[in-house]
Amino acid sequence: MSNCAADTLSNAAESLKSGALVAFPTETVYGLGADASNEKAVARIYEVKGRPQDHPLILHIASMNDISYWAEDISDYAIGLARTFWPGPMMLIFKRSDAAKDFVTGGQDTVGLRVPDHSLALGLLQECKKIGVLAIAAPSANRFGHVSPTTAVAVQEEIGSYFSAQDLILDGGAAQVGLESTIIDCTGDAPRILRPGAITQAMIEEVTGLKVSESSESTIRVSGSLEKHYAPNAQVLLDFQATAGQGFIALADVATPIGAIRLASPQTTDEYARVLYSALRDGDAQGLKTIAVIQPSGDGLAIAIRDRLMRASKGR
Ligand code: TXA
Ligand code: MG
Repeated sequence: MSNCAADTLSNAAESLKSGALVAFPTETVYGLGADASNEKAVARIYEVKGRPQDHPLILHIASMNDISYWAEDISDYAIGLARTFWPGPMMLIFKRSDAAKDFVTGGQDTVGLRVPDHSLALGLLQECKKIGVLAIAAPSANRFGHVSPTTAVAVQEEIGSYFSAQDLILDGGAAQVGLESTIIDCTGDAPRILRPGAITQAMIEEVTGLKVSESSESTIRVSGSLEKHYAPNAQVLLDFQATAGQGFIALADVATPIGAIRLASPQTTDEYARVLYSALRDGDAQGLKTIAVIQPSGDGLAIAIRDRLMRASKGR
């Protein structure tokens, strides 16, 4: 890392410590960060996002050694998952410790933790730790219910107008994964997926040797599982051949219907995840009323893509 980047990170850590908000890149999507122990700073996250107060925030930590500061009753299988997939696109939910206050957990008795896999995010977390900021609370850096930002420009467009002069956006390029982390409830005898992501059920079962309960809408209690979520302004139609003037997103081998406006042509499922949110934003920027999307088939990351698209299609 250059000295310039190191300076930027220590300044950003100081900003967090003084109560400012810092939006930062992760490998999944950009997060809107605040010092997880600072009630006033955390309250501003809810203001800027327009998010209901009882929705818990995910805490980003520098390493798995920090789990025990924020959480209790840590099972062996959770340790195995953290060791294997962190830093990475996976959030683990534990029983909270006394350090995780109501203002950050939305009053729940659990806390969600993640070590992100991005050099700027990890550098920021390390700088924070040096000055006593032990976790960064950070939801995705979008207005509530809207598409998560995968670039610094998208963060600026989403929430820049709600920022005050002390707040910062760190630019770490386009997010590599492009979809939010897999959320795994680790409070039971076996892991339970609450939000599908790049760490898949098969990967979790292989590492833990346990049968993972399937995520099902009725059991999910996270805001990202609300029906209307991850939604652009345009109406999203699933598995529908676009007509002239409508936006169109599909794998590269699907031809563009005549007159439709192609917003993305990913070659693979991974690329589909990476470009999906910027394609939806692009459709909004072009003022399109409708975006037709041909969903990817198969399992793995395709499950997470279909999960987000299903919610995006419910409208805002
Ligand atoms: O990839 C990600 O997870 C990104 C990056 C920035 O790390 N963050 C993210 O945060 O997607 P957010 O707040 O947009 O989505 C996290 C979801 C929310 O739906 C929240 O309600 C849920 O996780 N959540 C957080 N803590 C929880 C808890 N203790 N129990 C249940 N759900 C929780
Ligand atoms: Mg979100």
